[in-house]
Amino acid sequence: MFSLTETDLRAKILGCGDGPASFNSELTRQDGHVTSVDPIYRFSAEEIGVRIDKTYPMVMEQTRSNKDEFVWNNIHSVEELGQVRMAAMRRFLDDYSTANDRYINAELPILPFEEKSFEIALSSHFLFLYSELLSYDFHLQSIKELCRVAKETRIFPLLELGAKKSRHLDRAVNELKKSGYQCSIEKVDYEFQKGGNEMLIVKLSNK
Ligand SMILES: C[S@@+](CC[C@H](N)C(=O)[O-])C[C@H]1O[C@@H](n2cnc3c(N)ncnc32)[C@H](O)[C@@H]1O
Repeated sequence: MFSLTETDLRAKILGCGDGPASFNSELTRQDGHVTSVDPIYRFSAEEIGVRIDKTYPMVMEQTRSNKDEFVWNNIHSVEELGQVRMAAMRRFLDDYSTANDRYINAELPILPFEEKSFEIALSSHFLFLYSELLSYDFHLQSIKELCRVAKETRIFPLLELGAKKSRHLDRAVNELKKSGYQCSIEKVDYEFQKGGNEMLIVKLSNK
């Protein structure tokens, strides 16, 4: 999703909106340094586990009815996707129950970190994806906040639900450029939502 190189993977990374994903757990096992932020970290591992089990059939059903919006090359069916996701969530839950210092209960648009605490901030499947629910101002403020706490911010995908380009993308990029941020849109290898194979990289030009 983020074209992370071996050098990037050694950096101090913030994962924003990481939810019940296993990136933190897996990179930590390879001696990486990841801090994850998500409002769901106010809940215990048991509470998150119950919620995952409860919502699993609904998420599967939604994916089944929107099957045509996805590329089924690496994962071949909705059932296989379910197994892959559940395995990742179990890895998250095992790690989360023993390592609370790497999982911070906080939420955009305000983060509890000093300026440039991280080299790279990553946000996957949150910003832009929920453009219908989250306003343009929320997006702009959130991206600036990620750039405040990290030297570089990467956001993936640039689509909103329905596999359409986010309604906020062009306006946000124009405004950020006017305010002195460097923005670039780069192709990545990963594509699961059809057309969702681009990330936005943002940094403050002179920092
Ligand atoms: C669809 S999940 C994506 C999880 C993970 N990044 C991935 O790609 O699989 C979106 C996540 O954003 C989190 N979220 C919701 N509001 C947020 C906010 N204001 N700031 C940060 N994360 C938020 C949700 O709790 C959820 O875990």
